[in-house]
Amino acid sequence: LNPGPATTTDSVKQALMVPDICPREQEFGDLTQSVLKKVVQVVNGNLTHSAVIFAGSGTAGVEAALSSVVAQDGKILILDNGAYGKRAETIIQAYGIPHRTYRIGWGEYPDVAEIESIFQQDRELTHFAFVHHETTTGMLNPLPELLELCQKYEVDSIVDAMSSYAGLPIDLQELPIDYLISSSNKCIQGMAGTSFVIANNEKLAKTAKFPARNLYLNLWGNHSYIEKTGQFQFTPPVQIVYALNAALDEFFVETQAGRTARYFKAYETLLDGIDKVGLELLLPKSQHSKLLTAIVEPQSPNYDFMEMHDYFYENDITIYPGKGAKQDTFRIANIGAIDYRDMLLFNEKLLQYFEDRKISNS
Ligand SMILES: Cc1ncc(COP(=O)(O)O)c(C=O)c1O
Repeated sequence: LNPGPATTTDSVKQALMVPDICPREQEFGDLTQSVLKKVVQVVNGNLTHSAVIFAGSGTAGVEAALSSVVAQDGKILILDNGAYGKRAETIIQAYGIPHRTYRIGWGEYPDVAEIESIFQQDRELTHFAFVHHETTTGMLNPLPELLELCQKYEVDSIVDAMSSYAGLPIDLQELPIDYLISSSNKCIQGMAGTSFVIANNEKLAKTAKFPARNLYLNLWGNHSYIEKTGQFQFTPPVQIVYALNAALDEFFVETQAGRTARYFKAYETLLDGIDKVGLELLLPKSQHSKLLTAIVEPQSPNYDFMEMHDYFYENDITIYPGKGAKQDTFRIANIGAIDYRDMLLFNEKLLQYFEDRKISNS
């Protein structure tokens, strides 16, 4: 029940077992082209967007987008209300790109009016980077409202949708994200090892003339190479791409609506269990992604996260620690190849654990 690498189906695991193949062969090029199309299709972007894929974890895609799309005279606004917003700032600082940060507590909801006043005051801003589902807290940031600001102030949007892509419906024809980033190992239910940036074609083309700040993670460089040759620019993680292809096919069979419904049922089941043991949630329900929930740690002297973790681990369940939110939490994700029955099992074990250890929250 960790937010990634999320659990995968047996058929995705089996897709890893392919005969040795040179990734410069036509066969692998065809697979790559097809995977890229499917990656974009998940968010209904094929009319307007293209995917650029990288060997690397999710951060590779975030770094590729942030380092490649801001012009030399550009300036980026970053929303920091969790570890992944903060990480975007760290990347921008490492490249020395002009920026400012709208920083609030990890678990605080962004105030759209406050952000708007930043755009009003600072006319140098050309980009806005924010996380859709801030996995630190399980908060769903207000994507439509933030995109409206981008349109109103004519800045390009860079959205880290690492842990929402394929979990929540995102339609790029309705939500005009310029650069959407995700990876193979979260709600799309593939293996860890690739990250992708789904970029608006017109916006991406404009970056062609920007002096490159890097090579391996350069968005335009990778995109133009793959357009010309049909192949990854650098050695791809071959088996991971086969597994991603299988995961994408499974997604289209399940459908976005089916996947979201499965995840949401597991979330509702989790909340019943949390309620039964009397634990509190970090965030009001209206702010929940319904993909991961941060639960406030009980104050009882009998509670110890690592001991609870080990108890669950012995029972074949992996739970996840907190990550610097405004209150101490542990986190339970309901993404991956699981459903509400797995959550019922978790609830049963949680109740038993709290009863055995006599942990109360008062
Ligand atoms: C919202 C978000 N952004 C970025 C990342 C970084 O991805 P990775 O750890 O795969 O580099 C994560 C990972 O959990 C994430 O949840």
